[in-house]
Amino acid sequence: HTVAVLAGGLSHERDISLRSGRRLSAALRSQGLTVEEWDTDSGLLDRLRTNRPDAAVVALHGGSGENGSVQTVLEMLGVPFVGTTSTGCRRAWDKPTAKALLAQAGFTTPDWVVLPHSTFRELGAQAVLDAMVERLGLPMILKPDQGGSALGTQVVRDAAELPAAMVGCFAYGETVLAEQFVEGIEVAVAVVERADGPVALPAVEIVPEGGVYDYTARYTAGLTDFFAPARIPDDAAKAVGELAVAAHRLLGLRDISRTDAVVCPDGSVHFLEVNLSPGLTETSTVPMAIEAHGESLGSVFAELVKRAVA
Ligand code: DAL
Ligand code: MG
Repeated sequence: HTVAVLAGGLSHERDISLRSGRRLSAALRSQGLTVEEWDTDSGLLDRLRTNRPDAAVVALHGGSGENGSVQTVLEMLGVPFVGTTSTGCRRAWDKPTAKALLAQAGFTTPDWVVLPHSTFRELGAQAVLDAMVERLGLPMILKPDQGGSALGTQVVRDAAELPAAMVGCFAYGETVLAEQFVEGIEVAVAVVERADGPVALPAVEIVPEGGVYDYTARYTAGLTDFFAPARIPDDAAKAVGELAVAAHRLLGLRDISRTDAVVCPDGSVHFLEVNLSPGLTETSTVPMAIEAHGESLGSVFAELVKRAVA
C-alpha cells in the first residue's frame, strides 16, 4: 500500500504539522509501509486524482486541515483516510461548540463566553469587557474560537491587560472564546480506536516551567516537563479517561484524538477541548502516551491505516 501523509498546509501551525508529518512518516516506514510525504497546498485535489494513494493520513494542524475542508476533498474522491470525518471536524474544531456539547452531556467545562468581533464594534468595547469580567472573574483565558498550539491564547490576570489580550486574540480570527481559568493539573488524554471501540491511553501531565503552556513551551525541548502517566489519583485518572472517550464519541471523532482537561485539587475534572489532529512532534503528548502504554507510534498508526483501507 502507498500511504500519503498529508502535512504542512497554509495554517499558522504549518511548521508543527511538518514536524508531525516527518515523525509519523518515519514511524510508518519502520512498519514496512510505503509512505509519501505530501506538503498540502492548493494542488491537493489534482495530485490525489493523478497520483491516487491507497490511503491518506491527515497530519495537518489548523485551518483547512482541521476544519473539515481537506477531509471533504478526501471523502469526495473516495480516498480512505486516517482521521476524523469532515462532519466530525466541523463539530470538534469549533471550541465553543465542543464545550457546549460536552456541557449538555453533563460534563464540567469552565464557564465561557463567545465574543464575535462585531460585539465590540456594536456594543461598546469597554462595556463588553466589563461584563466579561463580571461574568467570568479573573484570571480568565482568551482563545481564538478555532485554532491550535495555543496560538493567540492569553491568560489574563488583570482587567487592564484585557484590551491588548483581546487584540492579540483577534489577530487569529473573528471570534474569541473567553473562559474562566481553572487552576489545577493540566492533562492530555489520547484516545485510539481499537477493533472494539475507542480506548483512552494513560493521561499525560503537563508542567510548563514558566507556568503557561504556550507555543514556545509546547515545542521547545526542555521548557515543559511531562509525566506519563500523570501523577493524579486513580479516580481522577479514570475520570479523565472516561471524559476523553465520551468527547471522542459525542463529537463524532474517528481513529485518534486528544482531549485536554484540568484536574483540580478537589479531584474534579474540567473539559477544555479536543484535538482531532493531535501533534505528533518530539514534544507532543500523544506519542508519549502511546509509549507509556507500551506501544509505538508506528504500530498504532499502521493499524489505523490497515483499518482505513479494509
Ligand atoms: N494543535 C496541536 C498540533 C495539537 O493539538 O497538538
Ligand atoms: Mg488544541
